[in-house]
Amino acid sequence: MAEKIKFTIDGKECYAEQGQTILAAALDNGVYIPSLCYLKDLIPAGSCRICNVKVSGRFMTACTTPVNDGMEVENNTPELEELRKSIVEMLFVSGNHFCPACEKSGNCELQALAYKYQMMVPRFPYIFPEKEVDPSSPKLFIERNRCILCKRCIRSIKDESGKSLFAFKKRGNKLMINLDHELAATMTDEMAEEAMEICPVGSILRKEKGFDQPIGHRKFDKQAIGSDIKSVI
Ligand code: FES
Repeated sequence: MAEKIKFTIDGKECYAEQGQTILAAALDNGVYIPSLCYLKDLIPAGSCRICNVKVSGRFMTACTTPVNDGMEVENNTPELEELRKSIVEMLFVSGNHFCPACEKSGNCELQALAYKYQMMVPRFPYIFPEKEVDPSSPKLFIERNRCILCKRCIRSIKDESGKSLFAFKKRGNKLMINLDHELAATMTDEMAEEAMEICPVGSILRKEKGFDQPIGHRKFDKQAIGSDIKSVI
């Protein structure tokens, strides 16, 4: 069996496999590092920056940085929590997020992080960008007002030949997620369900489904985000 790498997170002794990222190893050791674009078993995108930690005085994204032997990682510090809160606020002002009317409310990871950081009103001005929605797929509704461009859908929803059903379209502040219409027409119910599930916000919605979990029974009604992380080592 390959020898484990020893490192610490906020002084807690942790162990990692060779080549494992800080975020993946933290989860295995029962340590929660907030994340939005990370999804187990997918190549990390490093796009949301919520998982910033500090290593040797430098900010690093935990989802893309491999663990080194003896590494000392800072995670749960006021500085990092403040940084993460400001990123959550920036995500809120750069889209159009109206939580009370969102089908994903209570199951939304961005909303859950806003609760975690006790965000009341973002400190940045709202941009209120104009975003196109796309209802043309038979099974999915694409609500780009809520998209945080995490690429989870691009990286995980693929057809049998490995082709992604989702892709980015346009550039800069016009960048948006796009669903291939031809491939979308062949989507199974399971794929549509999975696409909705892996979206951390309410940007990919299953048609004819919404508000089906009563308040009090939704994922983050029952537990705060990250509170279910348990050590598997
Ligand atoms: Fe690491 Fe998004 S989870 S950058």
